[in-house]
Amino acid sequence: MERTVHDDIAYVLLEHERIQDRVRQLSDQISQDYADTDDLLLVGVLKGSVMLMVDMARSLQQDVALDFIAISSYGQATKTSGVVRLLKDLDTDIGGRHVLIVEDIVDSGLTLAYLRESFQRRNPASLRICALLNKPSRRQADVTIDYSGFDIPNEFVVGYGLDYAERYRNLPYIGVLRPEVYTQGND
Ligand code: IMP
Ligand code: MG
Repeated sequence: MERTVHDDIAYVLLEHERIQDRVRQLSDQISQDYADTDDLLLVGVLKGSVMLMVDMARSLQQDVALDFIAISSYGQATKTSGVVRLLKDLDTDIGGRHVLIVEDIVDSGLTLAYLRESFQRRNPASLRICALLNKPSRRQADVTIDYSGFDIPNEFVVGYGLDYAERYRNLPYIGVLRPEVYTQGND
């Protein structure tokens, strides 16, 4: 058999079906909570949130606008550098609009703390946060996640948008990488 991308995965933490079910639940909740507004803007944090953005947007029961920002705090390491850089800003003005930030994972919380502050200064009508994964044990900044998919242990995970050095984003599930894949040359 030929090697595939799956061979680098030590084990699967969240199967595709389980992710899909949870995303549907979150979308139902969001559809209910925003039922009275026709002006919901989903802001995806590139690139990790792309799978979640697409699946969530398709499950929502109302019309939503989509925008994306890109941020960097990692480089090629598996631990945050603590320095958040904005690589691409919003295309749209969020003043007076209902904004829901869609993020793949909250780890230290530094990225979202930075984003929340940056967005709040632009005076949106409301600002909430949705994150598929939460690693509570690693928190350095205090962030409230309004819609949280799964709490996970302190393991470096890849798949369903999440990468290691830009790889593994296309895995349909979320898995833990074999340590030998990233111990060489990092940290
Ligand atoms: P924070 O600023 O430390 O909360 O980091 C959040 C960002 O770090 C996420 O948007 C991810 O891009 C990345 N990240 C954190 N933990 C993981 C992980 O386990 N796998 C892949 N990326 C991660
Ligand atoms: Mg990210």
